[in-house]
Amino acid sequence: MKLSVSSILLLGASLLTLSSCVTTPSAQKMQEANAMLKQSAKKAEKGDYTGANSAAAAIGSGVRGAVELAPVVQSKTGNEVNLKPMLSAWESGPYKDLRKALAGGQEKATTAAFTNLRGQCTNCHAAIGRPGIHVN
Ligand code: HEC
Repeated sequence: MKLSVSSILLLGASLLTLSSCVTTPSAQKMQEANAMLKQSAKKAEKGDYTGANSAAAAIGSGVRGAVELAPVVQSKTGNEVNLKPMLSAWESGPYKDLRKALAGGQEKATTAAFTNLRGQCTNCHAAIGRPGIHVN
């Protein structure tokens, strides 16, 4: 069988697509958390604090679920990082503040809490050597 250049290119492209689909279960949970973050922020923007708060609950379970699946990870620089203390800091800090602000329907506090929350998502990613992960 003779393979044309275009079929080889096609094969390469499908392999690339395939490999980018392979995600770990914890990455999947993180993606869920990211999607729920977007949803929660959108709802809060529209003044739907109740909806925003239930979406925010799913952010929390996504992040917690991801860390529980793999509490110790190898950072890009090779050292092992224990995520549990960072998870606790995240939960008891900006995440708690966000839930409180949403429950109280407080506009200003909500805006600030979203900013801090995103910052802390990124802090944890930086600790594993992946500061470039896009947070919604
Ligand atoms: C306690 C540490 C920690 C916190 C806090 C954290 N993450 Fe992550 N995140 C990780 C780790 C570890 C991975 C890598 C998971 C993997 O590849 O198995 C990750 C990966 C991701 C990814 C990429 C998934 C992929 O497709 O590879 C996204 C998106 C993400 N996180 C979103 C978020 C968002 C949004 C928040 C905050 C609401 C957040 N993360 C908070 C540790 C954290």
